[in-house]
Amino acid sequence: MRRFAFLSVAVLALGSLTASSQRPAQPQVAQTPPMGWNSWNYFAGKVTDQDIRNAADELVSSGMKDAGYIYVNIDDTWEGERDANGVLHSNSKFPDMKALADYVHSRGLKLGIYSSPGPKTCAGYEGSLGHEEQDAQLYASWGIDYLKYDLCSYRQAVMQMQASDDKPGQMRLMETAYAKMDKALKATGRPIVFSLCQYGWDAVWEWAPSAGGNLWRTTGDIQPNWDRVYAILSQQAGLAKYAGPGHWNDPDMLEVGNGRLTLAENRAHFSMWVMLAAPLLAGNDLPNMKPEIKAILTNRDVIAIDQDRLGRQATRAYTDGEVEVWIRSLSGGAMAIAVLNAGADRYATHPFHLSLARLGLHGPEKAKDLWTGNEIVLRNDMPLQIASHDILLVRIASPR
Ligand code: GLA
Repeated sequence: MRRFAFLSVAVLALGSLTASSQRPAQPQVAQTPPMGWNSWNYFAGKVTDQDIRNAADELVSSGMKDAGYIYVNIDDTWEGERDANGVLHSNSKFPDMKALADYVHSRGLKLGIYSSPGPKTCAGYEGSLGHEEQDAQLYASWGIDYLKYDLCSYRQAVMQMQASDDKPGQMRLMETAYAKMDKALKATGRPIVFSLCQYGWDAVWEWAPSAGGNLWRTTGDIQPNWDRVYAILSQQAGLAKYAGPGHWNDPDMLEVGNGRLTLAENRAHFSMWVMLAAPLLAGNDLPNMKPEIKAILTNRDVIAIDQDRLGRQATRAYTDGEVEVWIRSLSGGAMAIAVLNAGADRYATHPFHLSLARLGLHGPEKAKDLWTGNEIVLRNDMPLQIASHDILLVRIASPR
């Protein structure tokens, strides 16, 4: 007995010694998909310091911050010139980046920035090629919390120059460029979310996590119209297995509230990004946001699906003509189902029938309709009236 007590003490002591001699673990970022706002989809090249401050203010006053939108991300066109020491300066639209970071942090938010591994960004501004460590240190000194790193001119200036007619060689150069910036970011000691943007080329989901990516774009650019949103959605089926805490597929930033999207389309777009465990980066004009758009972006039940701690991305269970049924496993054995009418309004006289059996369910199932807030009971083969480009999004707490 006494010997057992002695042994336990010795084991405990050894344990704490090992723990204390270990280096403190780097705080883990993006354990759930990052949420925030990015300047590109609304402001594009016109964004200024004042726009970023306004966005930060609005995230707080609209309740979006409390709903989880934390990152305020400056996209392309903030970059100025490098000085004689190679230090990059912001341009006249961003007079003092450190002061801007301090302001954003003072609102309880985090600041993101943008660069390219090439000599130029996509909008033709200064990129990070040959200055990766220097730029990473600069970002850290400003207090940057997130970097979107966009391939842009690296393709022509490096990949095609150094490995012309050699696709695997080009791919390796691309991977090396991302891994290089990841190393530079980690060397700063500051937790910085690393967002890869290379439009989903070369099955990026297979190698992005080992290049340090917390998220990676899976497609080309989104636009604020249904055809583009739906085209992107269609390219996400099959990618679920690559997503999880710390590393996410990114079907691009939200267009909710932008362009020609109808209310149903905004709701369907947001619902599907949530099912995909996508980063939720709003891209709308926050100071002029309509109440119905705010209601979509701040629906807590819907956001909770995106932010579910298991981090399991939805799969497309089946399609029937233009209706798609997607399912997502949630923590605690719960489940989300999205029924999307992606097509024209053909179901007005002849409703779609939801097959629970094809989802592995038996029914009846008690569920919550996350857009109306009402409880509903799902039955096998039940008729559902879903308008064109609209969606039914439900959560079943205890599927049977
Ligand atoms: C690319 C990216 C966009 C945006 C622009 C900025 O097109 O995919 O998301 O960052 O560059 O120039």
